[in-house]
Amino acid sequence: MIFQLKTFDLAAAATEKCDVLIVLLSASFKPGKDQVSQLVSQAQKAGDLEAKAGKCLQIYRPAGMACSRLVLASVGEASAAELRQGVAAAVASVKSKNVKRIAICFGARPADEGLRSVVVAVSDASYVFTTTKSKPEPSHIERVVLGVPDSSACKTAFGQAVATVAGIEYAKEWANRPANHATPTLLAGAAKSLTRFANVSCQVLGPKEVARLGMGSFMAVAQGSQEPLRFIVLHYAGAAKTVAPTVLIGKGITFDSGGISIKPAPEMDEMKFDMSGAASVLGVFRALGELKPAINVVGLIPACENLPDGRAVKPGDVVSTMSGQTVEILNTDAEGRLVLCDALTYAERFKPRAVVDIATLTGACMIALGGVRSGLFASDDQLAAALQAAGEASSDLCWRMPLDEDYAEGLKSNFADIANVAGRAGGAVTAAKFLQKFAGKFPWAHLDIAGTAWKGGASKGATGRPVALLLHYLLGSTR
Ligand code: BES
Ligand code: MN
Ligand code: ZN
Repeated sequence: MIFQLKTFDLAAAATEKCDVLIVLLSASFKPGKDQVSQLVSQAQKAGDLEAKAGKCLQIYRPAGMACSRLVLASVGEASAAELRQGVAAAVASVKSKNVKRIAICFGARPADEGLRSVVVAVSDASYVFTTTKSKPEPSHIERVVLGVPDSSACKTAFGQAVATVAGIEYAKEWANRPANHATPTLLAGAAKSLTRFANVSCQVLGPKEVARLGMGSFMAVAQGSQEPLRFIVLHYAGAAKTVAPTVLIGKGITFDSGGISIKPAPEMDEMKFDMSGAASVLGVFRALGELKPAINVVGLIPACENLPDGRAVKPGDVVSTMSGQTVEILNTDAEGRLVLCDALTYAERFKPRAVVDIATLTGACMIALGGVRSGLFASDDQLAAALQAAGEASSDLCWRMPLDEDYAEGLKSNFADIANVAGRAGGAVTAAKFLQKFAGKFPWAHLDIAGTAWKGGASKGATGRPVALLLHYLLGSTR
């Protein structure tokens, strides 16, 4: 999908050749003398176009206009969320029809956040996963023209929005791929392909190197699978070598069966999404490669499968982590923390300004926050505030959760330094407390995206979250 930014008003919009022209109408819309304005006024007077965001009215072949369809879309007060709702409804109303080229007209100059949210909403509403379908999609949106009163004023926001969408779609693509089409080795291949961007480099470590590093915890998770593990290291170098990087760590469990502590069968297929954290890191690097901001970023992805087998790790086994701490694995299904802890220790070598891990870590976080906000945990208030703010600004929300030391009580073990699970209560927090024991040497935050990384049911699929949040945070970290 190609996005294009243009200067045009409602009068000029009438001459824009396209399959669908979407006109975004906020409560403050002032009709002019042009034809679209007349239609809007008539529709509003007749009560055929409610002002609420998400309501729209479609007109086929409006006389004297260059578009095949005109969609008048209400966007309320034009907040980022309302713009998203309006665009989603408008695109959905023309989807599955012969629509290749759409134009979207903003009556007034959109705020940066508004413009970004419209571009993301178009992508979300029109995205289709095709990789494992035998036939291509019959018709899809190829070109999207955004018409604003003054395109030069929106250029930066537009560029960021388009790169963000490329990142989100890349994350969706990899998260959606089934586990047999997204093995640790294939994920590493995806990371390597990002070195086509001048500032991106990539190293991939295999079982031998990982053993030499002493990552006994990561290795324990991988040992039940025939697929060799991969430890992926990505570098984005946009600033001088002396500038401390931000490290992103993405959980890359390409399939989580639970291992010997095996999961029940219903919805187990959704555990192919257990590498959504890793996919979000790939998406962020994809966008960074395009945007070239003056920052340094390291991406770490511990990737493996979690399967039961004669060689698989067993409940009660004790392993040594790269940090030297020993862990009693009481539940092999709490594997995310076991791969992340070794990646956190590996991150120390970069002397990072901050480390953020992103993981579909706990069902408990999904219970706590649902699919609306990701769980945010942080050892550092400033980092927490910056991530929370980035979430609000990019409409990719998160919510801070506590890390009181009392929550670590249940992680005590009689046989190792620490156990990998505590009781059922407060499961998202105790998981974060486990990670925190490996994150003492830098400002650290953890995003639990178990509830937000994908949708189930009829619209089953990856959301690309939290790529928008992370990008917004990183682009703001130059100051
Ligand atoms: N990948 C899962 C978490 C998950 C479950 C995410 C369902 C989204 C939906 C994780 O590896 C896991 O299995 N966590 C366990 C932890 C428990 C054994 C302490 C869980 O949440 O049940
Ligand atoms: Mn698990
Ligand atoms: Zn998992």
